[in-house]
Amino acid sequence: MYAQVIDTGSDRVRAIGEMPEEEKVFMARIEKGEKIEPKDWMPEGYRKTLIRQIGQHAHSEVVGQLPEGNWITRAPTLERKAILLAKVQDEAGHGLYLYSAAETLGISRDEMTELLHAGKMKYSSIFNYPTLNWADIGAVGWLVDGAAIMNQVALQRTSYGPYSRAMIRICKEESFHQRQGYDLLIKMCQGSPEQKAMAQDAMNRFWYPALMMFGPSDKDSVHSEQSMAWKIKINTNDELRQKFVDQTVPQAKYLGLTIPDENLVWNEERGAHDFTQPDWNEFFDVIAGNGPCNKDRMAARVNAWKDGAWFREGLAAYAKKLPLRKQAV
Ligand SMILES: [Fe+2]
Ligand SMILES: [Fe+2]
Repeated sequence: MYAQVIDTGSDRVRAIGEMPEEEKVFMARIEKGEKIEPKDWMPEGYRKTLIRQIGQHAHSEVVGQLPEGNWITRAPTLERKAILLAKVQDEAGHGLYLYSAAETLGISRDEMTELLHAGKMKYSSIFNYPTLNWADIGAVGWLVDGAAIMNQVALQRTSYGPYSRAMIRICKEESFHQRQGYDLLIKMCQGSPEQKAMAQDAMNRFWYPALMMFGPSDKDSVHSEQSMAWKIKINTNDELRQKFVDQTVPQAKYLGLTIPDENLVWNEERGAHDFTQPDWNEFFDVIAGNGPCNKDRMAARVNAWKDGAWFREGLAAYAKKLPLRKQAV
């Protein structure tokens, strides 16, 4: 899942008249809906913004495996274990497609990994929250993958070809993720009172962090405008958040779960729900590294990188020897 653009760091939006000739051609192609490919000319800001966005997205897929991976050995049935294993494996695959897409922009996967470990590249804030009970696995699939899909469906039309093509494949798998989460919660909500209570507890803890996944409100999202002009971003954060709330309310009703927001009400005039915004101070605090699980997540990633050193070295040594062997033959 999981693009959450906090700061795209791009240039301000320029008028067409201010642009050099090649940039005018580039903008005309974007406006026509043409895809930009790796060897095409692109403004430096476009390239950097994409590296940041795709890199952050790739890291989120990989770090996102940690809260769920924690439950593979605790899954209550063989069937649930197989489903969860498949889902977590999909997320690793999403990370790989996205690292590959970012590499076409002139950064290596190793460099991105180093930036993540140095705290210079981020991943989605949601994965800094713990998964405390089995119903959390349902809530992650339903709400977290659900919020991710909301973002990613639009990104299938993003202007950068490799990113857009990766998103088409990812979206197909994400809808399976959301459905397995919802299916798990249906079972729990129709189960014993204790199981229903676990589902409600998961809903209470994941609702606001899921709303945060769309990033800060449009008025505080400084670089949205440029990203939208470049069609790197298709909808605003607030539009997507609203869509997510409107989609989720009837689903929660069907489960018999209460959304933890007393102000949540249908607004006839707007044709949408009014709802309470998440605590943005908490969001910025989590992004800054002070969430409940930030340190654990980073330690797990850094250790995995260290533990895999022997394997990467082996691969590099083999790659070096291969041409020599071919020569000898
Ligand atoms: Fe994913
Ligand atoms: Fe997913």
